[in-house]
Amino acid sequence: MTKHTVLVTGGTGTLGRQVVPLLRAAGPPVRVLSRQDRPDADSVTYVRGDLLGDPATAARQLDAALAGVDTVLHLAGGPKGDDVATRLLVAAARRAGVRHLVYISVIGADRLPLGYFRAKHAAERAVADSGLPYTILRAAQFHDLAFTVAEKMARLPLVPAPGGVRWQPVDVREVAARLVELALDGPAGPVPDLAGPTVYEMGELTRGYLAARGRSRRHLPLRVPGRVGRAYRAGENLAPAGAEHGRRTWEEYLAERLAG
Ligand SMILES: NC(=O)c1ccc[n+]([C@@H]2O[C@H](COP(=O)([O-])OP(=O)(O)OC[C@H]3O[C@@H](n4cnc5c(N)ncnc54)[C@H](OP(=O)(O)O)[C@@H]3O)[C@@H](O)[C@H]2O)c1
Repeated sequence: MTKHTVLVTGGTGTLGRQVVPLLRAAGPPVRVLSRQDRPDADSVTYVRGDLLGDPATAARQLDAALAGVDTVLHLAGGPKGDDVATRLLVAAARRAGVRHLVYISVIGADRLPLGYFRAKHAAERAVADSGLPYTILRAAQFHDLAFTVAEKMARLPLVPAPGGVRWQPVDVREVAARLVELALDGPAGPVPDLAGPTVYEMGELTRGYLAARGRSRRHLPLRVPGRVGRAYRAGENLAPAGAEHGRRTWEEYLAERLAG
């Protein structure tokens, strides 16, 4: 197990906020990269850096962030630019002699013809081709994202129910626990995907959300056209054979979140 500092990019995000305390509890010093200045807290050091900022500035920020680091958990991400951000991080990690780069990707990264998935796949390739010892975990959509989507859909007078589009949402705490285990275990390359325990049609997710809120709405069946629709209907975003599955269900997540 590493005693050197672990750098977590995205340590302030939905996933990162679960990862950081687990990592702290496991022992190594933890440093978090963020685009904002943040005060150090709970034995976690925050360093400033924008992976999509001016490349020369970002490279300087990363060189400082990576000093004395031997393991990086790269969780920073957004709707766009994960490929660009990851290439920059990989170059800096090589300069710093990082000994383990752990990357979180998404199930179907190489199969869904959507910009977000393509960027995740290009980022995976940047990590795998870096020459650095690495681990890549692909996860399904987190419950938190399913909740955000369901909440938005449920505001519409008719809730869209795209036929054949299914999700297998996973609890972010289970993804975090797996990532910390992987980070501490050492480089493993691509590891089995991690999805939730149950596959749902999108309409089932919104119905579950509405029921948990004690509401109902009419659903409007629709068909997602083109290659994207075909890929979803073929289940390209779902866990393939050999995947691992979390235990916490969407229903448990809803009950906990709405009680909170
Ligand atoms: N959400 C899902 O369902 C899901 C499923 C599978 C995989 N993933 C992957 O898991 C990772 C984390 O997702 P999440 O839902 O936790 O994201 P999130 O809540 O949106 O948080 C994004 C994180 O990335 C950091 N970040 C964003 N842009 C950055 C930049 N240009 N430079 C430096 N840091 C930046 C943010 O830090 P600051 O705001 O502090 O700068 C924040 O900590 C992403 O790589 C995502 O693709 C997500």
